Amino acid sequence: MSSSSEELAELYRPPRLPWLRVNMVSTLDGAATGESGQSGSINNQADKAVFDALRAQADAIIVGAGTARTENYRVADVPLVLVSRSAQVPEQLLEAPAGKVLVATCASSSGLAHARELLGDDQVVVVGETEVDLAALKAALVDRGHLNLLSEGGPHLLRDLVASGAADELCLTTVPRLIGGSHPRILGGDPVGADLELALLLEDDGTLLARWFVA
Ligand SMILES: NC(=O)c1ccc[n+]([C@@H]2O[C@H](COP(=O)([O-])OP(=O)(O)OC[C@H]3O[C@@H](n4cnc5c(N)ncnc54)[C@H](OP(=O)(O)O)[C@@H]3O)[C@@H](O)[C@H]2O)c1
Repeated sequence: MSSSSEELAELYRPPRLPWLRVNMVSTLDGAATGESGQSGSINNQADKAVFDALRAQADAIIVGAGTARTENYRVADVPLVLVSRSAQVPEQLLEAPAGKVLVATCASSSGLAHARELLGDDQVVVVGETEVDLAALKAALVDRGHLNLLSEGGPHLLRDLVASGAADELCLTTVPRLIGGSHPRILGGDPVGADLELALLLEDDGTLLARWFVA
């Protein structure tokens, strides 16, 4: 792969809108994190180029609160939507400018009132009674005009996006490394089944960059 950022933007264009894709990276032996316990220790330059291309065209970024905490997420150019049962905003995002951080949670969340106080009612999206209804979250974000939706995981959120039918695509980078040991895979939590179709496969010095559409 020697694609320019313009070529990558074209290669990673969504086939239609609204569209929700999840971008993940894995080693050849299926690890979703490296030695540091973060994905930063397994990704590489080619993965970063795709990560940037996807962010550049996203209208909003959806991320599990666990990943936002572990990966020390900061505000981005577009709104960051934190999916959290507990409605906890990670410390480093508490001072985010208005509109840059949204929390998606459920009505029974113990942290709902506090999140509303912190962010304002409009920035807290309540979808579902006891669980965060991810299909309803997708619809709510589309209603707000966010049509090209990018999720950056993590594994539990990816599993739930697949189970709920909200995910349209998985962008998966496979880096040419084996690391062994105990690491999460790109899906966590309860079993789920889904068939995917290969839509694009790029190669960069052994790194495989694929677009998989949920069938
Ligand atoms: N390889 C990759 O591409 C990649 C990508 C992202 C992350 N990671 C790694 O994955 C690890 C984190 O894994 P993880 O599975 O714990 O990440 P995660 O899915 O981001 O975090 C789980 C937490 O996020 C919230 N959450 C996720 N799905 C939810 C749902 N359906 N409804 C309500 N809340 C939901 C909950 O937060 P509350 O506890 O606040 O309720 C839950 O405890 C980290 O080591 C990270 O570095 C790897």
